[in-house]
Amino acid sequence: MKFFVDTANINEIEDLLPTGFIDGVTTNPSLIAKQGKDMREIIEAICSLVKGPVSAEVTATDYEMMLKEGEYLASIAKNIAVKVPLTPNGLKTCRKLRENGIMVNVTLCFSSGQALLAAKAGASFISPFIGRLDDIGEKGMDLIEDIVVMYENYGFDTEVLVASVRSIQHVIDAALIGAQVATVPPKIIHELYKHQLTDKGLKAFLDDWAKTGQSILPK
Ligand code: E4P
Repeated sequence: MKFFVDTANINEIEDLLPTGFIDGVTTNPSLIAKQGKDMREIIEAICSLVKGPVSAEVTATDYEMMLKEGEYLASIAKNIAVKVPLTPNGLKTCRKLRENGIMVNVTLCFSSGQALLAAKAGASFISPFIGRLDDIGEKGMDLIEDIVVMYENYGFDTEVLVASVRSIQHVIDAALIGAQVATVPPKIIHELYKHQLTDKGLKAFLDDWAKTGQSILPK
C-alpha cells in the first residue's frame, strides 16, 4: 500500500521523508490556503522534495479554464497529478489531460457510481473521502470496499486513493481491503508508530542496559 501525505506544509513533508515511506503528496485548495503562501512556490517546493505523485487541484469550474489550469499545474513538474472535482466538467478535463499523458486525481468522490465514471474517464487516481462520509453518519469504508471490487471486476487501472483519513483504523481498514493508496495527515502517520507495549518494552530494555554500565560503541 502506498502512503501519500495529506498536507501542503513543507516542514511536515521534510520531517517524514527520511522514513522512506512517503510515496507521494496530496494538497487541496484548503490545505494550500492554510499555508498563507504562494501556491506555485509551495507546489514547486514539494515537487523538488518528493519523487512520487504530488496532487495540485484546479479551482475553475468550467471546462476551458479547468483545462488551462490543469495544463499549467502539470507544467510545474513532471510528477504533478492534476486534481479535478467529480463534476461533468471535471471528468471531461480528466479525459483530455489523460490523453495528453498528464496524471489526474479525481477528487470529492462520495459514491461508487461517481467512482465508476472517474475510472471510465481514465482517472489515474480516484479519491473517495471516507471521513466526510463518516461525518454524515455513513460508513465511508463501505465505499472503498465497493470501489475496489468494482474496479477489479473490470480491470480498471485507476488507483483507489483513500482520502479524508481521520484515524489509524481508517488506514488499517483501507489496507485490509486492498486500496492501492491512502493519503494520510501527518498526525495520523505519527500515531501509526505508537503502541503502549513498544514504549513499555523500550523503557525496560534501556533500564536494564543502564544497570550494566556498558556502552555499545567502544569508549
Ligand atoms: C485529499 O486528497 C483530500 O483533499 C483530503 O484528504 C480531505 O480531507 P478532509 O476531509 O479531512 O478535509
